Amino acid sequence: MKKLIAGNWKMNLGLDEARNLAGRISQGLNTRITENAELLLCPAFVHIPAVKELFSTIGGQDCAAGDNGAHTGDISARMLKDIGCSYVILGHSERRAGHHESPEDLEGKIQQALFRDLNVIYCVGENLGQRQNGKHEDIVSEQLSVLNKFSAQGLFLTIAYEPVWAIGSGESASPADIQAMHSHIREKLKESLEYGDQIRILYGGSVKPSNARDIFTLEDVNGALIGGASLKADDFLAIAEHSAA
Ligand code: PGA
Repeated sequence: MKKLIAGNWKMNLGLDEARNLAGRISQGLNTRITENAELLLCPAFVHIPAVKELFSTIGGQDCAAGDNGAHTGDISARMLKDIGCSYVILGHSERRAGHHESPEDLEGKIQQALFRDLNVIYCVGENLGQRQNGKHEDIVSEQLSVLNKFSAQGLFLTIAYEPVWAIGSGESASPADIQAMHSHIREKLKESLEYGDQIRILYGGSVKPSNARDIFTLEDVNGALIGGASLKADDFLAIAEHSAA
């Protein structure tokens, strides 16, 4: 399975910086990365058109649960598709927490994204308390159950396992914990979705050049969703190089 290396730029960078970063990653892609990896950039909505001029595979960081209407400030899946996105990240823990996204909201967002032919990167992951109480697999199973309704569209889905406590903390989960959870996710996908064995499962949470190789050699890791390290062209490319090795 070709690995997907996705940069989640979150609410970072000015327009010039976004252009500069995209240009440097694009140059590196041509010279440093083999065909074994696919790279994706997910800039802030307003930077997408500028970044798209420099880099071909682009995603949004969210989309609305409706197709149009009186939703001030929201961006629809159709709008993302129109400006050249092929992916959208949905259910990131920062949105589940900061924007109170419910499973019903997420179901609507996934539905819209798939209807507009966007590939969905659906994020799951437990918080620290849930892990300490041994509830992490149950929490992730529950989050995954939102996908059951889309069982026939497995080929348009990617999962990102991101333990909340590892995001932006500098400390990724251990390789053993990552592999255990990814294998649990793989089993669940195979049980409930068509093509469940072909859905990519990305790891996210403090991925950096120094831990990327150990993470990418794990059997059920099919790529990474990268926040902080995706804002530095050299780090992002170095991570991608490890994935394609
Ligand atoms: P991080 O973020 O790489 O900065 O930990 C990952 C994410 O939130 O997707």
